[in-house]
Amino acid sequence: MMDDGRISFVWLEITGRCQLECGHCYAESGPAGDHRRMQVEDWRRVIDQAAEIGAGMVQFIGGEPALHPALPALIEHARGRGVEVEVFSNLVHVRPALWEVFSRPGVRLATSYYSTDPNEHAAVTRRPTYERTKANIREAVRRAIPLRVGVVNLWEGQRSDQAVAELRELGVTEIGTDRLRQVGRGVRTGRAGLDQLCGHCGDGKIAISPSGEVWPCVFSRWMPVGNVRERALVEILSGPRTAEVGATLRTHFATRPRSAWPTRPKPLSAKFSPWKPPPPDHACAAAPDPRKRASSCGLKPRSR
Ligand SMILES: C[S@@+](CC[C@H](N)C(=O)[O-])C[C@H]1O[C@@H](n2cnc3c(N)ncnc32)[C@H](O)[C@@H]1O
Ligand code: SF4
Repeated sequence: MMDDGRISFVWLEITGRCQLECGHCYAESGPAGDHRRMQVEDWRRVIDQAAEIGAGMVQFIGGEPALHPALPALIEHARGRGVEVEVFSNLVHVRPALWEVFSRPGVRLATSYYSTDPNEHAAVTRRPTYERTKANIREAVRRAIPLRVGVVNLWEGQRSDQAVAELRELGVTEIGTDRLRQVGRGVRTGRAGLDQLCGHCGDGKIAISPSGEVWPCVFSRWMPVGNVRERALVEILSGPRTAEVGATLRTHFATRPRSAWPTRPKPLSAKFSPWKPPPPDHACAAAPDPRKRASSCGLKPRSR
C-alpha cells in the first residue's frame, strides 16, 4: 500500500490446505484446511485489479498452492497480464504438469528447507519431507527455474546453518533466513502483535487471504483492511481502514528500537557468516528481493 494507492507485489494465499502440518505455521494450514471462499473467478479478477494498480509480481502461496487445482490457470492468467509469478511451495509433491508450468518464462519458485537431518526436518513439518523436498529442489535447479529458499530457524541447535550450506551445494543461490514469528501456530508466548512484523508490510505490498481479506502482509493477518469479494482492490486501498492501519504500522516501525527485531531475514552471502542484527531496511524473507526479479525471469518488469 503506497501512499499513491499503487502496489508492487501481492501475496495470493489461494488455499488453507496443506499435506503437512508444520508446528510453526502462521497460516495454521493442514490437511483439514480448504480453499475457502475465493473462487477461481475471484482470483482472476483480483489479479487483473492488482495489475491495474501496478503489481509487477504476485506470489501464489498457502497453505500449499500446488494442491489448488486452478494453480496452472491462475499462473497463466497472471503471465497473460504481464505480471511475474512466484509460487511458494513446500515442494513435497510436484505433478509433472506443474513442472511444465513452473518452467515457463516469468515463473519462479520459492520453498522451505529446515535441516540436513531428516528427523529434524520431519520434526518441523510433521511428515517425512526431507528427501522429497531436497529431490525437488534438485529438479528445480536442473530445470534452471529461478528458485529462492527460506530457512526458518525455530530452535537453538537446529541444523539450519548446515541446511544453508547444503542448499549452496545443491546449486541454490538465493537463500534467506528468518526466525519464528509468533503468529498462528507459531505463537509460543502471548499472541501475535506488531513486534512480529519485519517493518516492510504494507510498503507497496499486500496479501489476500483464501476468504478474500486484504492484509498488509501474510503475517499481519489480524489487521484486515477489506475484502476483495465485496469491494474492488483500488477502493479498499484508498479507504479509511487502509489509511488507519498504514498509520499504525508506520508509527510502530518508526518508533520501535532496532533491538526489538532480533532476526536475520536477509539473503546470506556466499559464505555463511555469523548472525548480526539486520540493517533497518532489511527485507521480509516471505517476499522476494525485488532487485533480483528483473534478471531472474523471462518477463520484463511492468512499467509503472
Ligand atoms: C506458510 S508457508 C507456505 C508455503 C509452503 N507451504 C511452504 O511451507 O513452503 C511459507 C513460509 O512461511 C514460513 N513460516 C510459516 N510459519 C512461520 C512462522 N510462524 N514464522 C516464520 N516463518 C513461518 C514457512 O516455513 C515457509 O517457509
Ligand atoms: S508452513 Fe507451509 S508446509 Fe508447513 S503447514 Fe504451513 S503451509 Fe504447510
